[in-house]
Amino acid sequence: MRKKMVVGNWKMHGNLLENKQLLDAVISSLDGLHEDLIAVCVPYLYLPSVQNQLQSSSIAWGAQNVSQYEKGAYTGEVSASMLSDFRCQYVIVGHSERRMLFGENNNVVAEKFVAAQNAGIIPILCVGETLEQREAYNTEQVIEQQLKSVINLAGIESLNKAVIAYEPVWAIGTGITASPEQAQDVHTFIREGLAKQNSNVANQVIILYGGSVKGSNASELFAMPDIDGGLIGGASLIANDFITICRALR
Ligand code: G3P
Repeated sequence: MRKKMVVGNWKMHGNLLENKQLLDAVISSLDGLHEDLIAVCVPYLYLPSVQNQLQSSSIAWGAQNVSQYEKGAYTGEVSASMLSDFRCQYVIVGHSERRMLFGENNNVVAEKFVAAQNAGIIPILCVGETLEQREAYNTEQVIEQQLKSVINLAGIESLNKAVIAYEPVWAIGTGITASPEQAQDVHTFIREGLAKQNSNVANQVIILYGGSVKGSNASELFAMPDIDGGLIGGASLIANDFITICRALR
């Protein structure tokens, strides 16, 4: 039976005081109440304080990016082993904002995926199409290529220690959420495509939906058979919204 999961992606938001207040509320409402997986992926600089606040709770933490390089003259980069120093369990790789704004192509994302796993960190692999790609009926082709790059480099069984997040770019930060049926269709496509290579991997891999998930729509999304939870942006910064979304898992 696949676990259910909600991950908050704070993106480039937060400050020490608001982070503490947010996590105090999340811990008091959600700690230990779930066999589900709950995590927050925070800006690098907040990893020490978030680790300190969450390390005695059932809520995990992680980062939003990682270098594909192990170490060296890569000014400004952060390696997977550095994330391990702060006991990160997860790291988001291939978020559409990294792909679009920072030029991360499928090959770079695949290398980041491998770098994370080499450090014992679970990559949350983001895939998804733009509105133009969807309107051109290229959604499946785009996602297939995004997954293929990772599988070609890391192997299909690497997904046993990974999470996939389907995030239609046109739903991220727009308030335009994919319908449960639209999301389920893509999640089914992903799972069936993986099943052609390894049915066990396909059955057990957690596939999250991300893109304008709110307290008001989480339950209907999470009720779909191949949607195992959510990757949450804006709503993860609001305690009550994030708590409502996590509670929608059950
Ligand atoms: O990684 C999750 C994020 O891209 C979704 O953002 O604000 O639409 O929930 P948002």
